[in-house]
Amino acid sequence: MNPQQQNSYLTHRANAGAGRHGWLRLTPAYSVRLVRERTGHLPAGAVVTDPFSGTGTTILAAAEHGCDGRAVDVNPFLVWLGNAKAARYPAALLAETRASVPVMAAHAAAWTAEAPVLWAPNLHNIDRWWSPGSLAALKGLRRALDEVCLPAPALDLLGIAFCRTAIAVSNAAFNHQSMSLRTAPASATADAADDCAGVIRRFAAETAGVLTSAEAALPGAGRVIQGDARDLDAGGLPPCDLLLTSPPYVNRMSYIRELRPYMYWLRFLDRASDAGELDWTAIGGTWGIATSRLNGWAPDGTVAPIDGELREVCTLIARDGGKNGPLLATYVTKYFHDMSAHFATAFRHVKTGGQATYIIGNSTFYGHVVPAERWYSSLLRATGFTDVRTSVLRKRNSNLALYEYEVTGRRP
Ligand SMILES: C[S@@+](CC[C@H](N)C(=O)[O-])C[C@H]1O[C@@H](n2cnc3c(N)ncnc32)[C@H](O)[C@@H]1O
Repeated sequence: MNPQQQNSYLTHRANAGAGRHGWLRLTPAYSVRLVRERTGHLPAGAVVTDPFSGTGTTILAAAEHGCDGRAVDVNPFLVWLGNAKAARYPAALLAETRASVPVMAAHAAAWTAEAPVLWAPNLHNIDRWWSPGSLAALKGLRRALDEVCLPAPALDLLGIAFCRTAIAVSNAAFNHQSMSLRTAPASATADAADDCAGVIRRFAAETAGVLTSAEAALPGAGRVIQGDARDLDAGGLPPCDLLLTSPPYVNRMSYIRELRPYMYWLRFLDRASDAGELDWTAIGGTWGIATSRLNGWAPDGTVAPIDGELREVCTLIARDGGKNGPLLATYVTKYFHDMSAHFATAFRHVKTGGQATYIIGNSTFYGHVVPAERWYSSLLRATGFTDVRTSVLRKRNSNLALYEYEVTGRRP
């Protein structure tokens, strides 16, 4: 591996063809290859904890390796997704689910005729996301899903297939760092009836793929609970041999933004204001109401030993960022206060002799570097971790000096 290159096999891109790891895409997910390289030496039954679960890459890779994967996330949709990915699915359940698909597809097709009166998610500008035909089919599928009588784990698998279908037939584009909507809807001129039938066929194909990857045996186990990485004591987690995670980066990436379509269709969200409330509970959240809350936030205490340097960099960001400068300076300050609280609780959850590994990127605001990897190292040392080391994993961007790092420490 050359750390001066972008090494995309170390990003979420590597997960697309890796069975359950590819079920739903999230740009900030890390690569299953990276996780496997760091868990490969662990004995069966070792506890691997990820306090920022995301799509559950860590617990699934741990379970595939025979370990006990434990994770926490603030986002209830990601808790659901992680648990669905790391569950064991008996062959009889998969057969029953497979048999239900043609019936469900027929019901969905019949329901599309009633599309105008069917429930639709309260997603802002929904017409920009889907063509009229695709939207009608998704509403019909959602109704058929509500009516199907299957055990909860089967509904989880159908929910994943539904999400895969919804995003595949949407106007979402992933050609930037995060998701955007194509300005000219791809299928605006297509025939609505063709769209409808195509979406239902797509759902059947997606379900077949999801069910096949759900067959894979898991020698270990994986479980995610909803909680806050700043207070792991509340979660009843066992002490871990390895804490392995990629926390939110200091880059204003909103997870809600990319997850919105799934969260609305699966009824984890109903109102835009709920999205802001949820993002405020996330480290680095700045979606909706979270932005105005950030405006009123002030630090409670200091984050020794990085306090002086943090204040210096944030003063420059506030000075050079125009009208957004002060808000972004507060964002960066709060981020490191939150992470400092996390490191304190994380230390107590690593077994004596165990290791903590953080995959983190640096960032820049108005030309001022936020050296997250260096500040992570200082905070880990101040918490009590020893043998703290930092290495470069990859370059994140061809023009800017943005890198991804691995920062590790040992609990003595
Ligand atoms: C970079 S993503 C993790 C990606 C993950 N490694 C994967 O492969 O999908 C960071 C995650 O941290 C979660 N998060 C943010 N603040 C949190 C908090 N206070 N407690 C727990 N999870 C949090 C976000 O919801 C998001 O899922």
